[in-house]
Amino acid sequence: MGRRFQELAFTPLVKQHQQEHGSRAQYERLAERSGPGNTLGPDEQTFISLRDSFYMASVGETGWPYVQHRGGPKGFVRIINPSLIGFADLRGNKQYISLGNFDHDARVALFFMDYPNQTRLKILGRVKVHEHDSEAPALIESFRSADKSSVVERVILVHVEGFDWNCPQHITPRYTVEELQEVLTPLTQKLAKLDEENAKLREKLRRLSQIESTSTT
Ligand SMILES: Cc1cc2nc3c(=O)[nH]c(=O)nc-3n(C[C@H](O)[C@H](O)[C@H](O)COP(=O)(O)O)c2cc1C
Repeated sequence: MGRRFQELAFTPLVKQHQQEHGSRAQYERLAERSGPGNTLGPDEQTFISLRDSFYMASVGETGWPYVQHRGGPKGFVRIINPSLIGFADLRGNKQYISLGNFDHDARVALFFMDYPNQTRLKILGRVKVHEHDSEAPALIESFRSADKSSVVERVILVHVEGFDWNCPQHITPRYTVEELQEVLTPLTQKLAKLDEENAKLREKLRRLSQIESTSTT
């Protein structure tokens, strides 16, 4: 955990609870030893570029937090530089809840999950929406995918402020169909071969028992 993540997430009330429950000193020592942690290193960049989804929390002007799930092909969240990541905001249900929230408060919390490896990465950052500004056309064009059926309405860039990796505890390993197929395809092929061999052996056995029964009669 970098210093910046602590600065943002450890509010006075949070620290009060850490004090009460005996973890405050430990986190203070951690902050002294840690780097700023406000830019993504190679591990974080690789991790993000391999994800096919993430969760994004924003806050509306009523104060209510709101979490949305975003999904796409692996790499749909692009690393622009160690402080900047971005994704295409596609035309969807036209509720524009996250978008409206960003007008009020640009701060977001992102949650990236790797279920098979029981790993998660939290990011705190500030959003910049590119839709009507001068940079928008080029950005939207560069984020357009090969799948022309989806309309890129805008590009959302997130300026990373801090991040934290979580421990693997309590993450149940889950696998996508694609990940399961990698393991299951060789097994299915082996099973088909065994089925074929089995059928041949049964046929051989049937013929042998036929010969045996005609020779004993
Ligand atoms: C036809 C359709 C396609 C969608 N495709 C995607 C998609 O590829 N990725 C994604 O994260 N959300 C997708 N969504 C969800 C929308 O983008 C959703 O409207 C948007 O995330 C809503 O954000 P909000 O809850 O902040 O208003 C799709 C929704 C619809 C109706």
